[in-house]
Amino acid sequence: MKLDRITPLLAMAAMVSCGGPKSPQDVLTVNDRKIDKIIAQMTLEEKVEMLHSKTNMSSEGVPRLGIQDIKYADGPFGIREEGVPNGFQSAGWVTDSATYFPTGSALAATWSEELAHMYGKGMGKEARVRGKDVILGPAINIQRLPVGGRTYEYLSEDPFLAARLAANYVKGVQEEGTAACIKHFALNNQETNRGSVNVIADERVMREIYLKPFEAAVKEGGAWAVMPAYNKVNGYYCSENEHLLNEILRGEWGFKGITVSDWGGTHSTMGAALHGLDVQMTGDTYLGPALIDSVKTGAVPESVVDAKVKELLRLRFTVEAIPEDECNLATASQPESRKTAYEVASKSIVLLKNSNDFLPVSKEAKKIAVIGLNATLNTQSGGMGAGVKSVYEVTPLQGLQNRAPEGMEIVYAPAYRNFMGRYGRNARNAAKTIDEAVDPKLLEEALEAAKGAEAVFFFCGTNKSIETEGSDRTDIKLPVSQEEIIKEIYAVNKNIVSVIISGGPCDLQVVEKYSKALVQGWWNGLEGGNALADVLYGNIAPSGKLPFTFPVALEDSPAFALGNFPQKEEIQGDLFGNQYRQDIGGQRRANIRRSPDAHYSEGIFVGYRWFETKNVPVMYAFGHGLSYVFFEYGQPKANKDSYKMGETIKVSFDIRNTGSMEADEVAQLYVRWPESRIERPFKELKAFKRVTVAAGATSKVTLEIPVSELRHWDEALNTWALERGPVSLMLGGASDDIREIIDIEIR
Ligand code: BGC
Repeated sequence: MKLDRITPLLAMAAMVSCGGPKSPQDVLTVNDRKIDKIIAQMTLEEKVEMLHSKTNMSSEGVPRLGIQDIKYADGPFGIREEGVPNGFQSAGWVTDSATYFPTGSALAATWSEELAHMYGKGMGKEARVRGKDVILGPAINIQRLPVGGRTYEYLSEDPFLAARLAANYVKGVQEEGTAACIKHFALNNQETNRGSVNVIADERVMREIYLKPFEAAVKEGGAWAVMPAYNKVNGYYCSENEHLLNEILRGEWGFKGITVSDWGGTHSTMGAALHGLDVQMTGDTYLGPALIDSVKTGAVPESVVDAKVKELLRLRFTVEAIPEDECNLATASQPESRKTAYEVASKSIVLLKNSNDFLPVSKEAKKIAVIGLNATLNTQSGGMGAGVKSVYEVTPLQGLQNRAPEGMEIVYAPAYRNFMGRYGRNARNAAKTIDEAVDPKLLEEALEAAKGAEAVFFFCGTNKSIETEGSDRTDIKLPVSQEEIIKEIYAVNKNIVSVIISGGPCDLQVVEKYSKALVQGWWNGLEGGNALADVLYGNIAPSGKLPFTFPVALEDSPAFALGNFPQKEEIQGDLFGNQYRQDIGGQRRANIRRSPDAHYSEGIFVGYRWFETKNVPVMYAFGHGLSYVFFEYGQPKANKDSYKMGETIKVSFDIRNTGSMEADEVAQLYVRWPESRIERPFKELKAFKRVTVAAGATSKVTLEIPVSELRHWDEALNTWALERGPVSLMLGGASDDIREIIDIEIR
């Protein structure tokens, strides 16, 4: 059967000409009449066949009617290599090498909607080359825990920054005709017991913090697919959570696309069928034969199945199926994507500290020592679902060698071994434990390399065995004796620049003391090494800003300070029974297990909202990032003195680059309610903009805040509400670098 397909762009254009689409979701519904007719021709068995996996990365179409399967591909940071049909092992292809883009926290450190959009386009395009319909990404949960195994995949601790980037990423992917499947919906903020943990959070906390990025990605980005997370929220698995999937996602946000459970995250037939899941991934235990039986016995109305099929067909007709013989003809990686990957990497690197302008390193330097194995690690693979088979990867050491000026000698010494974690313990020459003591031979070599160098680049940080899906870090300490090594290097050469190669924050208390400059280098995609070298050599100015706080110590961060993570231990069984057993000489200790409940009692005080409101000092604040130039902020002006709902606050000001090279600044606007009757954080980010300013030049910048963005979730009324009163608009280059404050009034 030939279907005259309406492409998303044509559909949008048609809707605009008849008065404009009401929501970006409407593009999915243009084929609804035709879809209803198709469903009327389908048998129950054909319909249910669509509602679970066909292979590990596909779900069935309707072969009898010529409707193609839906093909999924992992990768928030690059289209994952082809796996065998029924698992994740490599299929051994040659055309599936993709562009490895910087990981989530690196993208977020650019604070650039434009780059997030280009990044999404790159991903969307490469998915098409691979014949994939749905990208399982972006991953947009809030970074609640510094130790989170997927902190590096996620974007930010701040919902506004994460929301802006997520919406733009999704738009980029879908403009290329690929569906984005935002994940993991919702409150999947830890890997510890991720398959069973029950998150307890109140409605305000969910709405203002954890759901924000998803809301923007659906309502503004128009995401066509959503992946319910593994965990439970307030007692119900996310894949059968009526409140999340049916009431909020579909009901309030107007989502018209498909929901696809996380792999192995479906838990029942009735729960999933009745409470909002479309596709069981993987297997057919619940949304397969058991669902057919449930319909036949009348336990599940067939209309419920029809509604799911309708959502799947909407996606199928919005995303053009690529015939097998038209895809995978050439390598997936595209030149424009590689350029985007470089752009993102070069704008993500954060200069944390730069005593006496030690960086950039002089181009006249004769000898540079690069010390630390992390300078040579490939970071494309590992991390489970987030790995990429990259066309190439420029490591930091290679980047420094590639970009070294004539006459500069680069000497390298690894200094420590690679900690390989649970999957690579037997690897040759790997560190035995994460705390492995300093190896005297490696140290001697490193000290030799450091002697007489004009600068020592000390590469520390974690790796993808330490920060990975499936487990959280036990702490944020630097591994494999990196702290001891830097002290030893310092004894022979004090010109140390420490470069932290990690996705999440590390404890920098020791390293900071021994470093003239500190740089957060991330896992920065296939061009990461070149971008880093360009910053360290001063070819470009650093301009990344932290998307999360570096606490002084892990224990300072909110979930730890309140004892909310790790979950508390509970005694199982009957208390008296346990005692009695002991008395009669039985088991001395009662059964103890971790509580299955994760209480988010820190509430809306996540990340900098906690540190600022509770006056807890931090190592490096949210939004922090230095440059090689200085930016002066002019007096900001708001377009009015007072505002009401429906209006937009516009704040204009000048930024002057007083330095001698072109550089980017990210202007940040926070709001504070000095007289609020509601419990609020000290301040919250509400607008930002990245601007490029030539040496000595001044740029005019306007930041906008729709008044609706100032609403809070009113628990009593169970809806968004706008408080009236004075609001301070705080403008600066970081959350702890506020330069100007102006006051307005909300009427
Ligand atoms: C991860 C998802 C991923 C899926 C498929 C799961 O373990 O949580 O993010 O998309 O596997 O690989």
